[in-house]
Amino acid sequence: MSATMRAWRAHELGEAADVLHLDDVDTPKPGPGEVVIEVEAAGLNFPDVLLLRGQYQERPALPFTPGLEIAGRVVATGTGTRLSAGQRVVAVASPPRGGLAERVCVAAADVLPLPDSMSSLTAAAMLITYQTGYLALHRRAQLRPGETLLVHGGAGGVGSAAIQLGCAAGARVIATATGAERAAACRRLGADVTVDNTAADFVEVVKELTRGRGADVVYDPVGGDVFDRSRRCVAFEGRILVIGFAGGRIPEVPTNHVLVKNYAVVGVHWGLYRRVLPHVVPDIHEHLVDLHREGLIDPLIGAELTFEQAPQGITMLAERRAMGKIVVVR
Ligand SMILES: NC(=O)c1ccc[n+]([C@@H]2O[C@H](COP(=O)([O-])OP(=O)(O)OC[C@H]3O[C@@H](n4cnc5c(N)ncnc54)[C@H](OP(=O)(O)O)[C@@H]3O)[C@@H](O)[C@H]2O)c1
Repeated sequence: MSATMRAWRAHELGEAADVLHLDDVDTPKPGPGEVVIEVEAAGLNFPDVLLLRGQYQERPALPFTPGLEIAGRVVATGTGTRLSAGQRVVAVASPPRGGLAERVCVAAADVLPLPDSMSSLTAAAMLITYQTGYLALHRRAQLRPGETLLVHGGAGGVGSAAIQLGCAAGARVIATATGAERAAACRRLGADVTVDNTAADFVEVVKELTRGRGADVVYDPVGGDVFDRSRRCVAFEGRILVIGFAGGRIPEVPTNHVLVKNYAVVGVHWGLYRRVLPHVVPDIHEHLVDLHREGLIDPLIGAELTFEQAPQGITMLAERRAMGKIVVVR
């Protein structure tokens, strides 16, 4: 293995195009309980935008490499790991040792085995978004077949995954997106009904489709006004899943409204499960591999970029131009 490698690194906070540099750095060596992965594909996520701006919940010291999910092959193992060199895997990367590098050192506990049925491209596109969706819909919201699921940001990363997982769970899925092209993407993903935010009010559509009852489960990665308005069309005993705040504003909940309408606001922080309940992530991985093998889920990959184009992918997310997932391939 060569002594140096290339890695995208932020030397200051800001927008990807301004702050990321392709640096030559030392090839990482695994410590105890760690492995080094030769990256074949790295998925990009909105949190990469927030990380670079210094607005994410984790703030790695500068310089750092962004990128939170990778798929590839193990090339070196530290002591105390059960993984072996050559094994195909998908893994969570943790900046400063992020995924936008040729090789990445990760904790073995953050690595999942990859079956032959799944390519590195697909695995990197699925890891965070489908894990989050499965955790949220099944474990946190207990979504049942026949229930109505409202997915916001349906053409984005976590939203597109939630549409497919909702359909696979037998729910009736209503998806929102901004613009006709993005709404059409939601329909192709399997949504029963799509709402183009530029043409219709999702509150009215949900009320009409459910004869006034409302949506049983709301999947909200947008926050702000979208969350506020979702409270107006959530069903009796409904669950609003708080996934993220891509819209920028973190909304507040009047608890009297939660009481009077008898619904739940349910927080979802997938990353925490890796530390607090570590068995949950591998369990979900097995379900997702099965669903993929059965053809029930397959990620929408809106852009496949070269390693050199990685900053452009983060810019697309920042400018709301990404459709489904953006994946960097080597
Ligand atoms: N809770 C968890 O464990 C977890 C895990 C992963 C991600 N997240 C969070 O989920 C959110 C979405 O992440 P993602 O990777 O799916 O992002 P994404 O691909 O960019 O999708 C976000 C979607 O939100 C919509 N949106 C509405 N207002 C927006 C705005 N002002 N800026 C950007 N998008 C806006 C966009 O859809 P339209 O343009 O069609 O409206 C966009 O497709 C982020 O806040 C992220 O931190 C949370």
